[in-house]
Amino acid sequence: MRPFVIAANWKMQKSPREASEFFKAFLPKLDSSGVVTKALARKIIFFVPALDMAVAAEALKSTTVGWGAQNSHFELKGAFTGENSPAVLAELGAPYVLVGHSERRAIFHETDVETGKKVKTLQSVGITPMLCVGESLSERESNSTSDVIVRQLRAGLAERETLKQVMIAYEPVWAIGTGKVATPEQANEAHSVLRKALREIGGAALADATPILYGGSVKPDNCAEIARQPEIDGFLVGGASLEVDSFFALCQTPKANV
Ligand code: PGA
Repeated sequence: MRPFVIAANWKMQKSPREASEFFKAFLPKLDSSGVVTKALARKIIFFVPALDMAVAAEALKSTTVGWGAQNSHFELKGAFTGENSPAVLAELGAPYVLVGHSERRAIFHETDVETGKKVKTLQSVGITPMLCVGESLSERESNSTSDVIVRQLRAGLAERETLKQVMIAYEPVWAIGTGKVATPEQANEAHSVLRKALREIGGAALADATPILYGGSVKPDNCAEIARQPEIDGFLVGGASLEVDSFFALCQTPKANV
């Protein structure tokens, strides 16, 4: 059975003080709700800004909630001004790092080849990369969604050490921060394409155990319908992860068995 993963992507939002206040309000709610128990394969992760990592590491250290960086360099260390070192992230105890978010690809010109190198380096220090893939509106309209997301998936996993330690997030670029959510069927179809490619890459057993999250305008009022789709194993959430109540509502999304 795959875990159901609800991941917050705070992007460049929240100061350390705001992050600390969020965790103080959120963690007791989560504890008393029983949403995360040993019996339920449900995982909650916060991808926080670099400046909030110390706060996240401290607040979450004795909880079941994970955290991670939104980006890291593909080298372990060196002369790369402004970048996050995967070696230091490992030392801080970050279990996860986002790779290839569409904002990194579009604004910071991150390439498919770089995502592959990042996945390799992160796995080498024991961090689980969450590889993001997704098509633009023009790519969807020209019927190239499958080609684009499979190309991004194959490139991102080209240098992987293992499929045991990776998560995938499908985020159609046209649905991110726009309020336009993919229909549950559109999302499930893309996830099925990705699952098939994962089987070709790493065999059925590992592909079937790899969580594929959906991201793009996920909100408390659309999460249940999206989660009902069989290939959807969780959410990567931007806007609705910034408020305690809305993110907590997403953490409670019903999903059969998890
Ligand atoms: P959104 O962002 O939920 O605000 O659309 C999702 C993301 O970029 O990961």
